[in-house]
Parts: sequence; C-alpha cells; structure tokens
Amino acid sequence: MALSKVPYIRWAKYEGLMGTHRLTASATPAADWKDIGLDPQTLALTEYTPYGPDEVYQQLNSDWGIDPAGIVLGASASHAHFCFGASIVPMGGKIIYETPGYLPLLDALSLLGVERIPIARRFEEEYRLDTDALQEQVIKEQADLVMLTHLHNPSGVAFGDEEIRGLVEVAEKTGCHILIDEMYRGFLDPDPGPLCRFHPKIVSVWGINKVHGISQVRFGWGCATAELADQARRIFDSTTLHTSCLTDQVARAAMNHLDHLQQRGRKFASEGWEIFSNWARDFDLQLVKPAGGLVCFPKVPQEIAKSGFEFREVCMQRDLNLTPGEFFGAADHVRIGFGLPAQDLHKALEVLTTILTDPTLRRSHP
Ligand SMILES: Cc1ncc(COP(=O)(O)O)c(C=O)c1O
Repeated sequence: MALSKVPYIRWAKYEGLMGTHRLTASATPAADWKDIGLDPQTLALTEYTPYGPDEVYQQLNSDWGIDPAGIVLGASASHAHFCFGASIVPMGGKIIYETPGYLPLLDALSLLGVERIPIARRFEEEYRLDTDALQEQVIKEQADLVMLTHLHNPSGVAFGDEEIRGLVEVAEKTGCHILIDEMYRGFLDPDPGPLCRFHPKIVSVWGINKVHGISQVRFGWGCATAELADQARRIFDSTTLHTSCLTDQVARAAMNHLDHLQQRGRKFASEGWEIFSNWARDFDLQLVKPAGGLVCFPKVPQEIAKSGFEFREVCMQRDLNLTPGEFFGAADHVRIGFGLPAQDLHKALEVLTTILTDPTLRRSHP
C-alpha cells in the first residue's frame, strides 16, 4: 500500500500551529455564528440527508448554472476531490500533477498505486502553466488524469485566459480528465466561476473552508458531468456514507451568506497583502505576486538559510512560524501566510525584520 510520503497535513496539525507569530495559515480567520445567521441552539442532532442539503445544490445551480446531478458534496473538499479522482483513475493509472503543488490530494490517490508524473510550474515563469507542454506530456504518457490548483497553492497565482483556453484544448484533444482544485478561486473579486463549465472533462472542486472562514466545519464539493458524479457518489457512499448532520445545517445556513463571507475573506486577503507587500519593499525577497488568497511563496533568503526547513528553524528560534517549501516540492522556498488580523501580522513582520537584518544570522558562504 502506498501511504503518503509527504507529511504536510500531519505537520500542519502540530508543528504548523507552533509559535507565537504564525504565518502558516491559508484560510481566513474563523467566522462567527452571526456571520452565517445561525443560532447554534437551533441545531438538530437527528437531521439526515442522503447526499447533503438541497440548498447547496440550488445555490451552485443558481450561481453557476451547474446541473445538480453533476455535483457531489463531500465531507471536505479533499474528500470530494478523492471521490472524483478515484472515479477517474484506474488502479496503477497515471496522474500528471503540478510542482510545486499541494500534494496531500495526490497522496490520497496514491492509495490506488498510481504513477505520479510531475509537470513544472516555474518561479522564473511566474508559475504559469505551459499547456502545450502539458498536452504533449498527456499524450506521451497516456495519462489518466491531470491535477491542478487554481489559485495555485502555494503561490496564489491564477490561471489567465490563455491558460484556461489551453486547458480546454488539452481536454478536447486528449480526452484526459483535468481535476482542478479551486479552493482559493473565491478570493478573486469578482469570482470568475468554476472551470468545469468550459469542458465536460474538467472537474472543479471547491468548498467553504478557505475564503469563507468556516474551515473547521469540513464541507466541500466537486462538479462534473452527471455520469462522473454518479461514480464519485459511489465512492462517497463507501468512504463516509453521508455528510454530518451538523455540517449540513451549517452549510445550509452559509449558503444564504456566501457574499458576506466572501467579502469578509477578501478583506483579510487585501489588507494582509497591502501590509505584507509594503513591508516586503524594504527587503530583497524574491516572490511572485499572488492573484488573491492569503499566501505567497518567496524564495528562501540564501544568505540566511539553504532550505525552507532551515529557514523555518531560524525563524522558530524567534517564535515565528512559516511553512517550509519542501511540503510543496520546492525546498528553496517558504510559504508565507499574510491573512491574519492586522495587529498580529504587523507583530510577526517585525520579528521577520529582525531575522532578515541580523548580521549574526548571515551564512558565511551563501
Ligand atoms: C489546495 C487545497 N485544497 C484543499 C485543501 C483542503 O480542503 P478541505 O479542508 O476542504 O479538505 C487545502 C487546505 O489547505 C488546500 O490548500
């Protein structure tokens, strides 16, 4: 059995939460019951839905014209992603995945004994996806699935129109499914909507765990054709049976407040980026500007550390935490989250300033 070799989620649950100053988060700080207009005293313990609340299907249909028969609500976006991925890829099949990238999704599918084939998104090319190269690779490898993120985790970069046209062409010309994690797409203002609308071989996965500020509630979905969703629902049946009734009730309430929640999340993102980018002007950090979201992915300052892990160690000595790029497959980078309340972000950046300007921390041979 191919268990995960990339322990990011385990790290995020423990080490990622260490330190007084934390630049590790990628989700909006938690919303309150008031933000979703729900009185917790009204929660019922006995409610049941076979495949999640109708209100979510209706909302996705009215927002994006998606056929409810093509939607699968999961016990998290990761779960919905797995249900679709496992419906598409045969045992021992081939998956092309982006690197750097968010690897836990790939790890889950590695239980199918898949062959993993990387395609690079390069810092020097501002993490743009070369869709011609992708098409060649899909054909050469006879891949079963391409997995991408939009916005890109870890860099926050969005696909432009040309890349989207290129992806549609890949799907059309090769017939290969493209599974796109769009968890951070909602940070774009306005939200341009899911990419699954552009081709039946494109599957979009997203949910309420990032921009909406209800990340502990565990709820997400995937959207594709009715036929594929039916397969994915069979995997859903055998991996979680049905969604939690408490989650259903929160998700149902959240559907009536999506605009408010999204605006709230985007405010953290824009204010955080303004503070961070103003601060970063005084330093020689090499980074690509994110299109939205709460994270960016600068290079590790080589005069201080050789790798993401090493840089984090230096930072942790001053109680500042950030996410080593190793977890995303790029050891010379570090992921910095700037989506925390302004006061906390200012304090964390003060600590980072002391690290970047301390002559005793300079390596003698960078
Ligand atoms: C790209 C991406 N997809 C999915 C997830 C997890 O989503 P969920 O908590 O709904 O499983 C994360 C969490 O960090 C993520 O970064």
